[in-house]
Formats: sequence, C-alpha cells, structure tokens
Amino acid sequence: MTQPGAQAGYLVTEKLVKRFDDAVAVDEVSLSIGKGEIFALLGSSGCGKSTLLRMLAGFEKPTSGRILLGGQDVAAMAPYDRPVNMMFQSYALFPHLNIWENVAFGLKREGLPKDDIQKRTDEMLALVQLMPYAKRKPHQLSGGQQQRVALARSLAKKPKLLLLDEPLGALDKKLREQTQFELVNIIEQVGVTVVMVTHDQEEAMTMASRIAIMSKGRVLQVGTPEEIYEHPRNKFVADFIGNVNLFSGQISVDEADHCVVTTALGDMHVGHGISGTLNMPVSLAVRPEKIEISKNRPDANTNVFSGQVKEIAYFGSYNTYIVKASDGTKVKITEANTSRHELSDITWEDTVFFWWGDSAGVVLRD
Ligand SMILES: Nc1ncnc2c1ncn2[C@@H]1O[C@H](COP(=O)(O)OP(=O)(O)O)[C@@H](O)[C@H]1O
Ligand SMILES: [Mg+2]
Repeated sequence: MTQPGAQAGYLVTEKLVKRFDDAVAVDEVSLSIGKGEIFALLGSSGCGKSTLLRMLAGFEKPTSGRILLGGQDVAAMAPYDRPVNMMFQSYALFPHLNIWENVAFGLKREGLPKDDIQKRTDEMLALVQLMPYAKRKPHQLSGGQQQRVALARSLAKKPKLLLLDEPLGALDKKLREQTQFELVNIIEQVGVTVVMVTHDQEEAMTMASRIAIMSKGRVLQVGTPEEIYEHPRNKFVADFIGNVNLFSGQISVDEADHCVVTTALGDMHVGHGISGTLNMPVSLAVRPEKIEISKNRPDANTNVFSGQVKEIAYFGSYNTYIVKASDGTKVKITEANTSRHELSDITWEDTVFFWWGDSAGVVLRD
C-alpha cells in the first residue's frame, strides 16, 4: 500500500490477519507507519482496532501476516522483549504507590541501577510536568493528571513504539480536549512512534498525523486528517468522518474536466472527471460548511437549489440549518456566524436558496 505524505516503513504490517474461531477480527491489514508518526486507528466498536493493537504489542498472535519494526520481524518476540509499550484505557496506577514509585516501577523490575532509575523517573515526571506531585498517591490527582502519570510510566522504558488504546476514554469531554494537546506535545518531545486507537473522530483528527479508517476488520482508507475529510474514498468513510450530505444519483456526463451527477434534486456539477461509466450509481458528498445559504437567489447558476428551513441550531461561532429541499431531501448547511449579515433574518419555514461551487463536492462510488 502506498502512503502519501510520510516517510513510511518504520512499522510495517503485511496482510495481518486475526481469526477467532471462524470470525475474522482483523482482515489483511497492510500498513506502513513512519518513525515519529502519531498514527490513529479509527472505527466504531468491534471493528478490530484493539485486536490489531494487541498483535502489535504481542498479546495476540497473528493468524497470518507479518509485523516489522525497524526492519525486524517481531512476530516471534514475546511482549516483554519487544521495544513496545502499551497503555490501556483503564491505565490502572498502583493505588498504594506514590506517583514517583508508579513511574519507577517498570524500571525497578527491569533491574536498572538505582541512579539510572532516579534520573529517568525524574526526567519523565518533568516531561509530564508532575514533579510537584511526585509524593502524592494517585487518588490525590485529577483524572487528567493520572493519565499523564500513566503516560510517563509507559515512556520510562524508552519504547520505540507506544501503543495507546482509547487513551482518553476515561476523561470527560472538556478534559479530553485539553489532554489531547498535552499528549501530542509530550509525544513530539520524546519523538516516539505512536499507534493509537480511538472511536472518536475529533480525537483522531486533532492528534494524529495520519488516520486509518477501519470497518469490519479491514482498513478502508489511510490518509492525513485533511485527506480523509476532503477526499473520502467511499461513502462509509465520508459518512463516518464528520457531517456530510450524500446525494445519491448517477453519472450523466463524464468528461476529463467535469462531470454531472443526476439526482432526485437535480443535476449537480462537479469540476473534474471521474473516469467512470455513464449511468453508474454514485453519491455526491458535500460538506455542510461548503454550502451557501440565502433568502436571495444567488448569481451562480449551477448547483443552486431551494427548500424550506426546518431547523436552526446556533453553536456560538457558526449556525447549522436543516433545509428540506423540493424533493424532500434534508440538507445540512453550516455558516460562520459573522460572515454575512443577511443570515440573521433567516428563520424557520423560510424559503431559501442554497448552492455550492463545482469544486465543493466529491463523487463517491457506491
Ligand atoms: N479474545 C477474543 N475471542 C473472540 N473474539 C474476539 C476476541 N477479542 C475480540 N474479539 C472479536 O473481534 C472483533 C473485534 O474486536 P476488537 O478488536 O476488540 O474491536 P474494537 O477494539 O475495534 O472495538 C469483535 O467482533 C470481537 O467480538
Ligand atoms: Mg477496543
């Protein structure tokens, strides 16, 4: 698999498969991850993310396929021999040990000289900015701080690869968002390669350099957050990543520099060809923020439709409108609040025009 935009090849999986009895949990996953990348496995519950991660850690033996880390085949290595550390969602700190002892625990067990343990543990606590809390017990720290202790403990042994399974799953939303940035900062300072699992697309988009979208054990698409958002390869990915309007129809024109998708709402023009076949069923994906809305008819003459406003939601800096189009399709439209004055007089049941440019839509094969 070719991976755009990264110096891949540090962590490689080749057609990795894991079966449980006759169910396939991970199905021929081939990935190539660069050194120092934060790589996210994103998908809904049960799609195989944790199983894939557990194979990287060595807790689960692949049914077939290979795992290479820095060119070395690690399949036969026991978990504790791999230069890999895994931090679980329930990052269970030892309640009876203080923070310093929690971080030092793995190093002591490894039998490192005392001075080295002292030095490394201090370094790690400084890194996660918890030096002042070294003598406290875990229950005397906030959830976010405990999470940083767990990270310090995972990084203490200087793993080449850090695996995070839903690392922020135990934190509430606000704390999660704050901790996401802290985590990325720490990871980047250390320069460790990270594979993280999450079912939260915002978390993946915020933290990861690249994302693999998984469904039913398979990887559907790998790309930067932007690539996946702007150029989803299929309907599943488009739907999964953020809000999107999907207009189903068929290709009625397909030239080198443009194509037309004929839908129940009308013809939709796209500013590039897709080298498909005529009458092929497709969906046109258009993000809510790429659609304009007004009570006045716009100057544009392609991709202009009309409908009635059914719902309006205000989210501080932007508004979301649900417009019921002439054919009954509900279209979601997002506008920045400050951009245009006339938005303020759009209200429920108003008839409005909505439109988008011919580069706003992405044609997806069904
Ligand atoms: N030890 C196991 N034995 C049998 N089936 C398992 C086992 N672990 C996971 N599975 C199954 O494999 C699939 C993928 O699970 P998992 O990797 O935990 O998904 P995710 O982390 O994406 O939620 C699920 O259908 C799950 O029930
Ligand atoms: Mg899981």
